[in-house]
Amino acid sequence: MSYYKILGLHREPFSTSPDPDFFYLSKEHDLALTNLLIELHLRRGLSVILGDVGTGKTTLSRKLVQCLRHRGEFILHVILDPYFETEQHLLNSLVRNFEIPWDQYYGTQNSGAPAQVTAPQIGLMDLKEIFQKFLYDQCIIKNKTVVLIVDEAQKLSQESMEMLRVMLNYETNENKLLQLVLLGQLELHSKIMRISNFFDRVSFKYALNPLSLDETRHMIHFRMKQAGYEDDGDFFFEDAVRLIHESARGYPRKIMMLCHRALKAVIMKDATGVDERMVRNIIEEDVRSGWLTLQKSGF
Ligand SMILES: Nc1ncnc2c1ncn2[C@@H]1O[C@H](COP(=O)(O)OP(=O)(O)OP(=O)(O)O)[C@@H](O)[C@H]1O
Ligand SMILES: [Mg+2]
Repeated sequence: MSYYKILGLHREPFSTSPDPDFFYLSKEHDLALTNLLIELHLRRGLSVILGDVGTGKTTLSRKLVQCLRHRGEFILHVILDPYFETEQHLLNSLVRNFEIPWDQYYGTQNSGAPAQVTAPQIGLMDLKEIFQKFLYDQCIIKNKTVVLIVDEAQKLSQESMEMLRVMLNYETNENKLLQLVLLGQLELHSKIMRISNFFDRVSFKYALNPLSLDETRHMIHFRMKQAGYEDDGDFFFEDAVRLIHESARGYPRKIMMLCHRALKAVIMKDATGVDERMVRNIIEEDVRSGWLTLQKSGF
């Protein structure tokens, strides 16, 4: 039996996977999400979300996709691991994942592809042209918005960044043909700064900060409710919430991990809720085992 069922819950409340159903709209996440939606509607081109490890970037991107998916005017693709050896690999992946009928767009005279040619064999210049024609067709002829979301964007190579910069040049008088959302850890910022003309193209940028104490409390209670907790009283007592916030310094992933372990402690002790002592025991256990020192040294 799953541990959370023992507590009368029907889902795991503190899973560390970025499930949009458990997305709590903190001030930071709300600002980022609302602005991203506006930018995409206005087709402004490039948006960048920065955030330290575990601040909720991937969760935010899942929520964004959830908001856009049911709206027919958006054509979406999310790159989760943006490591591409060459520009050609990146373009091939876009052609495949946007399901571009590349043979329709192949050839400058629009004469179609020769029968023996397959997408991976197409040269870089032709791939660029195919992608550009696809964007033009979708945006201008069909009035769709093509959105490319890149998570872990700090891993993009210099060549891939350059390629994306070129794609941001595809535009009409009014708007950009490709909408690009980059989410990444803080080093993405210096990467963007290193490429001339990339930083100028950023239409919206935002850095996610850790949660405040109030938001930590609300997020914990919200996730318990989403998981099926129905009692009026809070399962995590106030002192416990304060200590969790302090120890996790407001970082959502660390909050999740502490809460998850606290729930297991509740089960083992057959308790009725999470109190400060339980949380303190978990933290002390980490100190004793050297885990906190390892974490601080970047392990
Ligand atoms: N707004 C939020 N509401 C609810 N849970 C959240 C929120 N933001 C983050 N979390 C939780 O914190 C965990 C870490 O979030 P996420 O994986 O999105 O962080 P990240 O910034 O992408 O981390 P990394 O830099 O390691 O990729 C997630 O599993 C999620 O459960
Ligand atoms: Mg992530």
